Order: sequence, then structure tokens, then C-alpha cells
Amino acid sequence: MMKRIAVLTSGGDAPGMNAAIRAVVRTALFHGMETVGVMRGYDGLMEGDCRILESASVGGIVHRGGTILRTSRSDRFKTEDGLRAALVQLEDWKIDALVVIGGDGTYRGAHALGALGVQVIGIPGTIDNDVTGTDVTIGFDTAVNTAFQAIQKLRDTASSHDRLFIVEVMGREAGFLALEVAVSGGAEYVAVPEIPLDMEKLCEHLHYSRKRGKTHSLIVIAEGVMSGADLKNRLQDTSGYDAKVTVLGYIQRGGGPTSFDTVLASRMGGLAVESLLKGESGKMVCSVGGRMVLRPLEEAWGTRKPLNPELLALVDILGV
Ligand code: F6P
Repeated sequence: MMKRIAVLTSGGDAPGMNAAIRAVVRTALFHGMETVGVMRGYDGLMEGDCRILESASVGGIVHRGGTILRTSRSDRFKTEDGLRAALVQLEDWKIDALVVIGGDGTYRGAHALGALGVQVIGIPGTIDNDVTGTDVTIGFDTAVNTAFQAIQKLRDTASSHDRLFIVEVMGREAGFLALEVAVSGGAEYVAVPEIPLDMEKLCEHLHYSRKRGKTHSLIVIAEGVMSGADLKNRLQDTSGYDAKVTVLGYIQRGGGPTSFDTVLASRMGGLAVESLLKGESGKMVCSVGGRMVLRPLEEAWGTRKPLNPELLALVDILGV
């Protein structure tokens, strides 16, 4: 009989994590179980920094960004000593199963715990959307919208001054954020880590649009390619273009979640608990074609999740 589960958030925070925590706690209560909130991700788990979450503990958080449990990137947890410390705390706190919310780094930790006999389910939460197996991760839609709003503002000033703007967005080694906002923000060019940067093509593209009478342009670059400042210098050296650079940075991780992320997080949190009750373990909740399914945690880092080729082609076609 499962009585007590635990939930933690780990890695970069993402809008919607609070909605997922709320869903875990309230679904557990619905099934007569108690939830322990683990503070500061795996760091807090190793130290036993935990507290019981009541229904009221997760009241008034569904619309808030960040994570009420706080988060960390833990190096110690990657060691034998760290895993052992976590096992001791799980036993001390009488925790029967664990829900982890985060990206593939979080899943690797969960997988290691699973190999030691801990029942664990993952929920994908990262603005990068770079988790293989799920179409979307919690926080991606909000981050896209945050970057989109910033780009709309930049376009106003770019067109007023006839300027070339470079916008650097987050995404780690993946181009999902960059590609999505390049399409929605009407960018002339997008540079993503999945495709080698072709400076010649980029310059030709800019020359062509200038020749057609365009007086301002927008390039979106994913941080995994190079910094916006480096791209500015390379553009200056190769073609003489002068660009203004904006780094959106951590702004993209903050703010309350969109409706899409809130619903996604609520569904994923609910299913994570239901799955534990069915005895599932070592799996992650994924959204595939709008349906929630379970997939093995290892799938998250086995292969690289591909960018949507249709969106890539669209940037070329529309950004003339
Ligand atoms: O994974 C989310 C993310 O914001 C990435 O886009 C970015 O590369 C990274 O986290 C930044 O990490 P940190 O918060 O450790 O600086």
C-alpha cells in the first residue's frame, strides 16, 4: 500500500513547475496519500530538506513562475556517496515513491535511483524542450511567448531605425526556442545548433532582402551556436553589416505559465501519481500528439530530439 510520495524540481526552473507540483499533491490526496516536498532538488534530497505538503501548501501557486520547492544542479548527486545519502533520506522520511520534475539531467539522476530500487516517475520541465520522447516540455510554451513579446518590441525599434538586430535566446544545445520564436517573430534568419551556421548564406540573405527594399532585419540565434556578440563580430568582418545585439537571457525562464503550460503541467502531474499507483517506475510522462503516455526515462537522452523541418523551411520561405 503506497502511503507517501515525494516530489522535487531539479535543473533550470520552468514556468508551470508549480502547477505540476500542485497536481501531484492534490492527486495524491485524492487517492489518500501524503506528499513530501523535497527542497532544492537532489541537494535537498541528500540533506533531507523536506516538508509535508498539504492541499493548502499548494494553494495560490498555479499561476506563479519558478518553483516553490526551489531547485539546484547537483554535482554530489552524481556520485555514489550522493546516491547513498539520498537513499538514507528516502528511508528516514518513509517515502514510497518519487516524482522528479526537470530535464534530461534530472532524469539521469532519477534513473540512477531507479536502478537502486526506488520507484520513480519523471515529468519533463524545461524551457529548452530538448527532452526526447515528449513533443513538449513544461515551460517551453511560456518561454516562447516571453521571447515572442520581446521580439515584437525589438521589431518596433528595428523598423524605426532601419536596423539589423540579433536576438540571442536560450535553449542550451538545442534550437527549439530559437526556431519557434523565429517563426512567430517574423525573423529573417535563424541560427540553431542542429544545423552548421552558413555565414555565406546568411550574408546573401541579408543582401537580398536589402536589395528588395527591406530596411530592417532580425536574426534569432540560439545560445548553443555562439553568442549574439560573436555573431555580430563575424557579420561585421565578413560583410560590414552592423547589428544591435539583445540577449534575452533568464527573462525567458521567469513569469507565470501560459494556459497551455498550466494545463500540460496539471495533466502530467496527475498522470505521474496515477502511474505510481499502478506500479510504474523508471518512466517519464510524455505528451505525444496531445495524448499523455509513459516512456522509459533513458529515451530522454538516448537520441537527439529533431527540430521540426517544416518550421525550418518556413523561416527561409517567409523571412525573405
Ligand atoms: O535548461 C534551461 C536553461 O535556461 C538553458 O536554456 C540554459 O542554457 C541554462 O538553463 C542556464 O543554466 P543556469 O541556470 O545553470 O545558468
